Amino acid sequence: MPLDRKDILDITSLSTEEIQLILDTAESMRDISERPIKKVPVLRGKTVILFFYEPSTRTRLSFDLAAKRLSADTLAISTDMSSLVKGETLLDTAKNIESMRPDVVILRHAFSGAPHFLAKRLKASVINAGDGTHAHPSQALLDMLTVRQHKGRLSGLKIAIVGDITHSRVARSDCEGFIKMGSQVVLAGPPTMMPKGIESLGAQVAPTVEAAVADADVIIMLRIQKERQKQFSMATEREYARHFGLNRERVALAKKDVVIMHPGPINRGVEISPEVADGPGSIILEQVTNGVAVRMAMLYLVLGGGRNADAD
Ligand code: CP
Repeated sequence: MPLDRKDILDITSLSTEEIQLILDTAESMRDISERPIKKVPVLRGKTVILFFYEPSTRTRLSFDLAAKRLSADTLAISTDMSSLVKGETLLDTAKNIESMRPDVVILRHAFSGAPHFLAKRLKASVINAGDGTHAHPSQALLDMLTVRQHKGRLSGLKIAIVGDITHSRVARSDCEGFIKMGSQVVLAGPPTMMPKGIESLGAQVAPTVEAAVADADVIIMLRIQKERQKQFSMATEREYARHFGLNRERVALAKKDVVIMHPGPINRGVEISPEVADGPGSIILEQVTNGVAVRMAMLYLVLGGGRNADAD
């Protein structure tokens, strides 16, 4: 079954069938990364531009690797390398890039809605690699894939998401994705980092971290997004760790087979203690491995994969 859309901009616009398709395609893509020769020719001749206007390690590297493993050509542009520093607008830069006929533009941008703005104006497919506090669809998809791999399902699971919900595009996309796929999502964090009305996404807000993680199947910890806060909304990091950090005592309240996740980069000793981050339930590095597979699936599907049997 093909994915009948030019762009992947958020989880909101994806149907449950489309999410299922991306996850199922990612399962088959995962094997490619385990082979001695980690390359298949399905996107040979296609060009992927990585447009990163905010720092990134995992998302940028894994989109790059994903494109290369499918034999596409990639080119990475960051803010300091582009003519944006000379005053060119995002749209003018993008239109100039499109004149060179890329097939996919992957955009990370500090402004919520920037990928949607470009998607309406470019013929190339646009994939959102994280826009402001709005959405991070590839992170949510790789989180769902990783949970499904461990639990065999997504429906009926209790997913606790803890930390700086207000500034987290991962929290929003994870909420939408897991809820669409039938999970229960419970949020916890400092009141100063909990947006009003977040329940409208279908999530519940717990009064404490303990209540959120009690009997949880999955705990997703979030980084404090200091770069998006006008000022740090807790007195100290030590205070944050004491009230909201994940430690062994809090993990013990969850189900015995709970898995611990974090989108990265982690602040050890702040939102997560080192013994939990490196402990037996932690699947943080598996998330990173699955990030490549999910992004291979996204690229393959937006470029028409599944439409032509010869390309499969
Ligand atoms: N999870 C995530 O988006 O990490 P990067 O900022 O390193 O891409």
